[in-house]
Amino acid sequence: MPRIPFIAGNWKMNTLKASAIELAKAVAQGSPRSGVEVGVAPPFVYLDAVAQALAGSPVLLGAQDAFYEKSGAFTGEISVDMLKDVGVKFVLTGHSERRHVLHESPELVGKKAAAVYNGGLILVHCVGEKLDERDGNKTLAVVEAQLKELNPQSIADPARLVIAYEPVWAIGTGRNATDAQAQEVHAFIRQTLGKMWNPDFAGRVRIQYGGSMKPENAKGLLDQPDVDGGLIGGAALKAESFLAIVNAAK
Ligand code: PGA
Repeated sequence: MPRIPFIAGNWKMNTLKASAIELAKAVAQGSPRSGVEVGVAPPFVYLDAVAQALAGSPVLLGAQDAFYEKSGAFTGEISVDMLKDVGVKFVLTGHSERRHVLHESPELVGKKAAAVYNGGLILVHCVGEKLDERDGNKTLAVVEAQLKELNPQSIADPARLVIAYEPVWAIGTGRNATDAQAQEVHAFIRQTLGKMWNPDFAGRVRIQYGGSMKPENAKGLLDQPDVDGGLIGGAALKAESFLAIVNAAK
């Protein structure tokens, strides 16, 4: 069964309200209605405005984070129900900046991932090794441990699970993984999902590549058999470069 590629823009802590709306409108206008799934994850405070800008388009609204509790005394946090309330369809968990800048533990990441999936949303779970881990030949062990933050017992629908492989040394550095480096880890991820669930389930999960993906390198990466899309940071902040990647995926 063919996997429809999924290209998602992670805007991180960028844009202000007017530029977020402008970018969302341009992405909505330029995104194809079939052959590729497109999403954007703006900062929390602009979700509502971006939802309105995307109205009527096929572009999915995403959030960069979510807390695992449903409601209550958790100052500053945002629940899955709140995200659903403003039209969010997918949520990132385990992004390297949350792991390594905000020091989220594997346990916290796992709880957030469970809350996102159990809340009915598409879970985009990010994994990836740091440079010293790659140099120390620990890439596959690190990625496997991060996949095991997910609980196969509670995740049954492969259409609502997306894995983003993002080598930390490639994020925001301009230095992407080579096509072969990406394919090697993507194939390992699918094999590991096959063991955690089963090969049929693993064959339906989309695995995105992230880390300095841009129009110039997108096609080579997306042509790899186990690369099913991209999670785009810097190149997602301009409609032109983001849409060029979207079209490369189609
Ligand atoms: P980048 O970010 O495309 O700017 O490297 C990717 C990501 O962190 O999702």
